[in-house]
Amino acid sequence: MRHLISAADLSRDDAVLILDTAEEMARVADRPIKKLPALRGRTVVNLFFEDSTRTRISFEAAEKRLSADVINFAAKGSSVSKGESLKDTAQTLEAMGVDAVVIRHGASGAPYRLATSGWIDAAVINAGDGTHQHPTQALLDAFTMRRRLVGRDAGLGKDLAGKRITIVGDILHGRVARSNVDLLHTLGAEVTLVAPPTLLPVGVETWPCEVSYDLDSTLPKSDAVMMLRVQRERMNAAFFPTEREYARRYGLDGDRMAKMPEHAIVMHPGPMVRGMEITADVADSDRCTAIEQVANGVHTRMAVLYLLLGGNEPAVAHARPEES
Ligand code: CP
Repeated sequence: MRHLISAADLSRDDAVLILDTAEEMARVADRPIKKLPALRGRTVVNLFFEDSTRTRISFEAAEKRLSADVINFAAKGSSVSKGESLKDTAQTLEAMGVDAVVIRHGASGAPYRLATSGWIDAAVINAGDGTHQHPTQALLDAFTMRRRLVGRDAGLGKDLAGKRITIVGDILHGRVARSNVDLLHTLGAEVTLVAPPTLLPVGVETWPCEVSYDLDSTLPKSDAVMMLRVQRERMNAAFFPTEREYARRYGLDGDRMAKMPEHAIVMHPGPMVRGMEITADVADSDRCTAIEQVANGVHTRMAVLYLLLGGNEPAVAHARPEES
């Protein structure tokens, strides 16, 4: 694997290797000194053309824990606002000796273009492009599900075969649902999408999943229920259904959560809009893994960076605390 552009590019073995490596990275995070020397002397640039809290900060934390040199680039305040192109921006950064580019961009396909155009030699990691893909989000979600539904040690080497995952919300404008459907299908899970017809993309019937408009009948059959934000910033037309109607039909509140099996978890990639797709009591409940997903994002992104830049040795070979 030279780049990570799409969850659909990962084989079952690729994905399980990343999840197992992320478990090794999580063991390092449990130590008093959380740093590894694996990427010492390598430089990673975080190239963010769109806003982000979780992804940007967790990539930076992952890079620093692996001892990489980190350059943070935000389009706001850069020469992008003077009209500089993606190609010129990327080549300018590579001239400074960059080994990997982590890119978030509003245009679907921008990371693919960067990886395949020959503009730069660096490894490219997609941190979210338009409505297309967010592969590290799907990986950290799968990591969280495997830990919770299979077990931390019991899950090593395993996939999510037979687990029933329900993804609820704005499938049309989000990249998280598409990435999760691709990866969860590869890992053997059964996925059901629940959304109003207006928030489903054309062609969803060709995706490897079921589609339902009825959340209440899907909840009792779910091992994990992933709630997604309605991405109003990507909508041109007036939002339909109304917020109130949306929350009533597709929001997860305490009464609905009670319909889920006892072992089932509630997931959210963030940012959450409390009162819309999820009520505050559900978001703050023990069953909601939103904060756990953020922590798991650091382990998972460490694994991806390590496997792309650090070589194919088992991570544990590098899992020595940094001497300080
Ligand atoms: N889940 C996610 O991508 O969050 P951010 O937009 O804050 O990075």
